[in-house]
Amino acid sequence: MDLKQVAYDILLNNRRKSGEHQYTVPSPQSYPYQWLWDSCFHAIILSHLSPEDGKKELLSLTVRQFENGMIPHMIYWEKSEAAEHDHLNIAWGRDGTSSITQPPMLAYAAWKIFQKDPDTKFLEKIYPALYHFYKYLLHERDPHERHLIGIINPDESGEDNSPRFDEALDLPPVHDLDENFKRRLTLVDENRKCGFDAPFCMKNFFWVKDVPFNAIMVENLRCLSKIAQKISNGYDAEYFDAEAGRIALAMRELMLEDGIFWSTRGEHYDKIKIKTWAMFAPLFAKIPTQEEARFLVEKHLKNENEFSTTFLLPTVSADEPSFNPDGFWRGPVWISVNWFVFHGLRNYGFDELANTLASHSLNLLEKSGFREHFHPYTGGGYGAINFTWGGLVLDMMES
Ligand code: GLC
Repeated sequence: MDLKQVAYDILLNNRRKSGEHQYTVPSPQSYPYQWLWDSCFHAIILSHLSPEDGKKELLSLTVRQFENGMIPHMIYWEKSEAAEHDHLNIAWGRDGTSSITQPPMLAYAAWKIFQKDPDTKFLEKIYPALYHFYKYLLHERDPHERHLIGIINPDESGEDNSPRFDEALDLPPVHDLDENFKRRLTLVDENRKCGFDAPFCMKNFFWVKDVPFNAIMVENLRCLSKIAQKISNGYDAEYFDAEAGRIALAMRELMLEDGIFWSTRGEHYDKIKIKTWAMFAPLFAKIPTQEEARFLVEKHLKNENEFSTTFLLPTVSADEPSFNPDGFWRGPVWISVNWFVFHGLRNYGFDELANTLASHSLNLLEKSGFREHFHPYTGGGYGAINFTWGGLVLDMMES
């Protein structure tokens, strides 16, 4: 397969325009709107194909930024789209957008584009939106300055029904997807009733400090710091870098136990001890020591009872009661996860394993096409078709 060509064709087919704005839908049939972290993935892929379009993709995300700095995880560019989505009864309480966010990959994606096309004007243009977005997360999602960022709905993690959130949703390890969806809808309602106040109202309903979200934040704050430096804003550069350090430290202090970083919930930082790929997310932000990284890889990633399935990498450890190889974020392989872990492994010099992860990802695309997620034992493709994220394999191959 000519990966570059196929990935590009899908991105071009999924490209949409609204007035002067341009963005890409993750899948025309299943996800015909704009999503936040998806667009960051698109920009990362486009950095290898057409950086100019990558810039447009990222800038379009900033158009509907909230006054408080939050960037919503979904944009309905046309009025008819919001109405169309109403069949799911999602009452976001906002016009033309959702009212929650998603993992903050924006600064990383902007920095990645800049690596391929050193256009300082682009950085200057996008910087104010980045500044306000990351400041929003640092302030509103960490009101007591414990240096961990909270999410108010599982969907903010990008892993809608991950078993990491079962406890907080008061669900058993095995339950049906509809029930899960219903609980998440209730949180959307609470958020609306809270007037979108995360730190003082929504935190009473759902307040999880998620490992991948925080690891992504750390790496993105470092990128933001480099961006600030590039546009001669040394003061901000120092500030964002220091914030990255503080979160990394807090992750050690509040999440790490027996060599594993666990997501936590509530005021007391109760650890959610469910083994998911989140254990490996800190590698992406170089948070573990070399020794700790080796432990995670040897003891867990390479363990056949846990994460070493036929096709790497299952989102949930195979020995968890919640593991379901066909359960959306409860077991299947997702290319985005492989991408995060690929870069994480590279950070620690586990190049061979990183390459295995890249070649498994490519095999999955060759075998089953650009699907949303894949069966970790059979490699069968599930969910959305013509799904853009497969293009991230290109970034693995070219990194
Ligand atoms: C699903 C995924 C989420 C993604 C969205 C659009 O909801 O769980 O991560 O952003 O689809 O692709």
